[in-house]
Amino acid sequence: MVKLLGISGSLRAQSFNTALLRAAQPLAGAGAQLDATTLHGIPLYDGDLEQSEGTPAAVRALKERILASDGLLLVTPEYNNGVPGVFKNAVDWLSRPTPGLPDVFHDRPVAVIGASPGGFGTIMSQTHWLQVLRTLGTRQWHGGRLMVSRASSVFAADGALQDDKLRQQLAEFVQGFAAFVAAAKA
Ligand code: FNR
Repeated sequence: MVKLLGISGSLRAQSFNTALLRAAQPLAGAGAQLDATTLHGIPLYDGDLEQSEGTPAAVRALKERILASDGLLLVTPEYNNGVPGVFKNAVDWLSRPTPGLPDVFHDRPVAVIGASPGGFGTIMSQTHWLQVLRTLGTRQWHGGRLMVSRASSVFAADGALQDDKLRQQLAEFVQGFAAFVAAAKA
């Protein structure tokens, strides 16, 4: 069984990106399990806090979840044509060393998707992630692309995905990534 962890980069209860991640969960296919999490509880990165108290508990807990997975799915909003600070901040914390834990990013299979109410569906923030991921030494999957535009017409008020074509695209994306992760694991 391939274990994937999806992280939504939005803290909003009504987040389109969290809704996208939830919609992806049942579509991972027979040989894969997609767990979902958000970034609630991660403090702002502060080097003084790190020096005096070490890795915050919420960061350590997220690191442990990433380490327990075989591949990471970043579900990213786009702010001002880039990666939202909340998400980048979390990844910055996650990139810092924690005694007793290995690097969570090096060689880890990673894929990126995202949703936006606008017309370009996070194309800029997904591109922005590439330079961050390259620095972290992850193993990006480029076998598919998924940029969900006009998100307010794609998700119902309760967050349910109401677009069958997108459901198909999402299933193809997640299953393609899961196959990549399985091959990397073998
Ligand atoms: C946005 N939004 C946005 N959307 C986009 O497609 N490109 C952009 O550059 C921006 N810029 C931007 C900046 C800031 C500060 C905010 C708060 C918002 C809109 C954004 O896509 C929208 O708020 C989404 O709903 C955010 O994702 P979640 O929270 O729904 O997952």
